Amino acid sequence: MCKSLRSLRCLGTVALLATMGHASLYGAPDDRPHPQVRTRRDIMSLAPDGPEIAAFRRAVAVLKSRPATDPTSWEFQGNIHATKDPSNPGVWNQCQHGNYFFLPWHRMYTYWLERILRDASGDPEFTLPYWNYVSPAARALPEPFRLPADATNPLFVSERNPEAGGVNHGARLPASAAATFWLPFRLTNFSTTVPTGFAFGGRTVDRPVHLMPTMGSFESYHNVMHVLIGGENGYMSDPTTAARDPIFLMHHVNVDRLWNRWLDQGGGRANPVDDPTWMNTRFKFFNEKGQPVEMAVRDVLEPEELGYRYDDDPPPSARPGRDPTAPGKPLRPLASSKSESLDLGTDGPVRVTIHLGDEARAAARAGATLALFIEGIHFEKEPMVYYEVYVNLPADAAPDFQSVHYAGNLVFAGLGPPSPHGQHASHGMSHADETDLGTIRALDITDVVRELRARKLWDDARLTVTFVMQGLIPVGNAPVTRPGIKAHFAKVTFKAN
Ligand code: C2O
Repeated sequence: MCKSLRSLRCLGTVALLATMGHASLYGAPDDRPHPQVRTRRDIMSLAPDGPEIAAFRRAVAVLKSRPATDPTSWEFQGNIHATKDPSNPGVWNQCQHGNYFFLPWHRMYTYWLERILRDASGDPEFTLPYWNYVSPAARALPEPFRLPADATNPLFVSERNPEAGGVNHGARLPASAAATFWLPFRLTNFSTTVPTGFAFGGRTVDRPVHLMPTMGSFESYHNVMHVLIGGENGYMSDPTTAARDPIFLMHHVNVDRLWNRWLDQGGGRANPVDDPTWMNTRFKFFNEKGQPVEMAVRDVLEPEELGYRYDDDPPPSARPGRDPTAPGKPLRPLASSKSESLDLGTDGPVRVTIHLGDEARAAARAGATLALFIEGIHFEKEPMVYYEVYVNLPADAAPDFQSVHYAGNLVFAGLGPPSPHGQHASHGMSHADETDLGTIRALDITDVVRELRARKLWDDARLTVTFVMQGLIPVGNAPVTRPGIKAHFAKVTFKAN
């Protein structure tokens, strides 16, 4: 819908489609120039036995009943995200991870799949709900996805994390997994050329890359949910199976919604509309008639033009304008913990000390960005937990993610040995020092250090980093086995620019 302030952009999009000729070749994003705007709702506001969930169940059942060769089938759509099946007809394995196409690609994916599901549901008002696990009342898997727990329920799959009594039995996401989106929200830049991802939307690349290990801050936040819902053998924790679990859609619609909420914060937060690579890169999907369609990132920046809004979207005019953001200066390593192999496992918090020299001390006072790099990460099998990371947590203090010491979460999704069919390729990367990218996670600690200094909790001589394992919150007294597998890392480096 082209409203007030947006009408100029709308005209631009329409003109572009016309001049590029894609409208006739692939079909425009919507056949109507002014699509009806439907509302995507919080799933907790919908009755589990109400008409919206019934339509969703119906639609998923229809897609699952279609032959896998049908582009509008559940199987084929899942393959578009990713698959281990090598017989790729050319449109599979497209999901964008670890780079700045992550958000727009998943917006396109959920958009086309929503259209296919709407058509299959027979309900012209159908929209995908979102799962807002930020809300404490919504930290367990929404009921329609686990009850009834059998094949009569198209939203149920048994391939979910059995830990802590089981996701399918109501094991809950910890608050530090679900309520900490404010950490990535502090970043005001959408993209960065620095591969470690201090940017809301991810790192720049010169062309799409299916799976890269360099997750940005928001994508890492989203990865925690994948890992906890999927567990060791479930669908959600592996990109090649993730989209087979219907909860994937609720998760990604929420991610899509949080992109809007990030933009709402203003303060320079904006999409990189001046980046022609980002704006003009096109991806292939299928519409509800099974016809191939193609879409550029520039076509998906205004959800209302795609015919949807969120139930908590402010009116368009309330959205702050764009301020230019300065490109980040490169980070320099200033101090590291003693290099040795450390295990992150089940045996309680792990603590490392970094001794600070003059340069590091000065940087802690003056650096524009301060960061911790956890380097040399390796493991045989990815642990299906995450670690809260704390700075200068006193040895006798209980870890609390709402305290000033909390710096964020460490999650390993995307790291580790490349899968035989995955593409942990290095193409599209333009930095010389990136040989180790698959072994590093970085956390921005600028605000944490500033706050610690303000409260006189900073120590000029040393900084300690504490890792605290977190997994699902058990149902009742259900047992938690947690990883027998350990992850190892070589050292933690303090960097500043
Ligand atoms: Cu392409 Cu959250 O997955």
